[in-house]
Amino acid sequence: MNHMSVTIGTPLQSSAFKVLLLGSGELGKEVVISLQRLGVEVHAADRYDHAPAMQVAHYQYTLNMANPEELKQLIAKVKPHLIVPEIEAIATEVLVEIEESQTATIIPSAKAVNLTMNREGIRRLAAEELGLPTSAYRFADSLESFRAACDDIGYPNFVKPVMSSSGKGQSRVKSFAEVDAAWEYAQTGGRVNQGKVIVESQIDFDFEITLLTVRAKNAETGEIETQYCDPIGHRQDSGDYVESWQPQPMTAVALEEAKRISHKVTTALGGCGIFGVELFVKGDKVWFSEVSPRPHDTGLVTLASQYQSEFELHARAILGLPVNTTRHSVAASAVIYAGVDDTNLSFSGLNLALAKPNTDLRLFGKPEGFKRRRMGVATARAETTDQARELAQHAADQVIVNQN
Ligand SMILES: Nc1ncnc2c1ncn2[C@@H]1O[C@H](COP(=O)(O)OP(=O)(O)O)[C@@H](O)[C@H]1O
Ligand SMILES: [Mg+2]
Repeated sequence: MNHMSVTIGTPLQSSAFKVLLLGSGELGKEVVISLQRLGVEVHAADRYDHAPAMQVAHYQYTLNMANPEELKQLIAKVKPHLIVPEIEAIATEVLVEIEESQTATIIPSAKAVNLTMNREGIRRLAAEELGLPTSAYRFADSLESFRAACDDIGYPNFVKPVMSSSGKGQSRVKSFAEVDAAWEYAQTGGRVNQGKVIVESQIDFDFEITLLTVRAKNAETGEIETQYCDPIGHRQDSGDYVESWQPQPMTAVALEEAKRISHKVTTALGGCGIFGVELFVKGDKVWFSEVSPRPHDTGLVTLASQYQSEFELHARAILGLPVNTTRHSVAASAVIYAGVDDTNLSFSGLNLALAKPNTDLRLFGKPEGFKRRRMGVATARAETTDQARELAQHAADQVIVNQN
């Protein structure tokens, strides 16, 4: 061992190695559990109380992370070694400052967080700087320029607010007649009322994948190396993932191309950690779509399929520790929605959901449900991805959400 490696102290004592998680959703919750297992002191923040990751962290903070002052105060109080953004709605200028002053390490890097929070930043990097294949695209910030952009790109096209996620404000525009309504809808769905949208040509893909890509240090040399999980196939409904499976079969040529694209974009973003690279695939051809510099929702399937889930991979990588991306099983995941708008929900039918031996369940413990809010996920292992998908969906369907 000839390089400096992390030293982990004792949580709640002065030697503690501290991680501050910005965003405390269900993906963060699993990251926290992985960090806790390695003896890390975890601080979890979100905009509402009792968020999933807060429930398993040592300390919890409720604040508006998009407010630079509030965020600065929190960081000054916690004095974390690592800051791990789990959501995109963060005052990223503060993270840039922190990284420059070297008071904490931003995971994976301030540049990555900054560029990926805005569709314009990451798209221009991927297509214009790195020369990666993407859909044709235009940006527009007024109804006038939007109409022109739609006509330029053609129909059908996809419209997305540049500052949005999980399908919010997104629509598929099939003809000029739908253009004005799509503009109106996009204005309601953005995170900040900035108005700017991207118009993308529709890619006619066979399937889409997430290629989980990990940048982690080699145990001997300390050099950052890139490793890949097997491709994850998924199905999206209104821009939101409803089921995923691993592995997604694809040609050797397409897999090599997927790795080339993922390597290029994650290298440009830098730092250590896991990235969810979203790609469209048709035969041997691959297009870059977008990338999350953190665990990806479709990667929940790795809880069932890999020795180290995407959350364990992230925890290890951000600590500068070696990782193993090997898959041991064929598996699938299926999302469980609240189906109602209410708080204090309860979940029954769990005995039936877990009746088949190779199924498992996560209930996130979210204090409030919405019709289309993800409250849990079912996973299943089987001989084939089709069987695993069926089993995971069956398990998810057994869960009954009750109002109290
Ligand atoms: N240009 C496109 N061509 C075809 N399908 C698309 C395109 N853009 C988005 N989609 C579909 O919509 C989904 C959500 O789009 P995405 O850009 O990933 O938004 P989000 O950030 O909300 O996940 C994609 O996973 C894909 O199924
Ligand atoms: Mg996406």
